[in-house]
Amino acid sequence: MKIIKTIEKVKKLIKESKEKNLSIGFVPTMGYLHDGHISLVKRAKKENDLVVVSIFVNPLQFGPNEDYERYPRDIESDIKILKKNGCDILFLPENKELYKEQLVIINIIELSEKLCGLSRPTHFQGVLTVVAKLFNIITPSRSYFGEKDYQQLLIIKKMVDDLNFDTKIVPCPIVREKDGLAMSSRNSYLSPDERKKSTILYRSLLKGKEIIKKTGDIENAKNVIKDMIESVNPTKIDYIEIYDEKNLKEINEKTKYCRIFLAVFFGKTRLIDNMRVKIK
Ligand code: PAJ
Repeated sequence: MKIIKTIEKVKKLIKESKEKNLSIGFVPTMGYLHDGHISLVKRAKKENDLVVVSIFVNPLQFGPNEDYERYPRDIESDIKILKKNGCDILFLPENKELYKEQLVIINIIELSEKLCGLSRPTHFQGVLTVVAKLFNIITPSRSYFGEKDYQQLLIIKKMVDDLNFDTKIVPCPIVREKDGLAMSSRNSYLSPDERKKSTILYRSLLKGKEIIKKTGDIENAKNVIKDMIESVNPTKIDYIEIYDEKNLKEINEKTKYCRIFLAVFFGKTRLIDNMRVKIK
């Protein structure tokens, strides 16, 4: 595995690979890798000649009172994991390599004005700006994103369509711990007590799914989920929403699949999760 820190060097490597007609699978991450990230790397390995992973904790997508400084980092362990799982190139830029005097910011309307966008108003413009930069540097044939961050996935797909990026976005299913908690680098913040409580997210999603499948009653599903989550005394519920998964709009007669979306604070840690439900 090659570890490359500069844009110039990685562009050169990519150019050489393209001259050999190699397809490139790209997995952008912020590191502190777990099995969720690795599932993306393995999928990219299966479908491409060359796998590029980036690790960059992107300051632009963190709000002023968020966890940029304390975001977990363990680059040595990440390198070992990537070597083991078939990554060919690790792009590891420093802050000053990617951001000099960034005046251009990519913004998206509508899709960013709900769910995580409400409590994190500048988050998605930070994500889009860094992902657009990375797409221009790596020029991947396919790019892999997890459904764990479903709103992010949808927003990136829309950017690729609207701005005519030449990469195919490949969505990958959520990888969970044995007890159902969706894997996340932020799970490392949880105290043992918060970790125990956090399993309510998956359990309430399953219950919500069951109700929608049986009765189609969206409001009731939301209320039952709320009661279940409140029963463990979380620090705060940020949102519980159920939307059409195509456009994050309210469900209507055309909706085929909806998704239940949750964001809940346990202590200072904000966890998100979601689940797809077929509308009968
Ligand atoms: P990060 O949180 O490190 O996640 C990197 C990728 O891994 C994202 O596509 C995310 O959806 C996926 N992922 C995380 N946990 C997962 C899980 N349990 N199952 C499946 N996939 C999972 O998302 C980001 O970084 C950043 O916003 C980024 C896109 C890199 C831009 O900075």
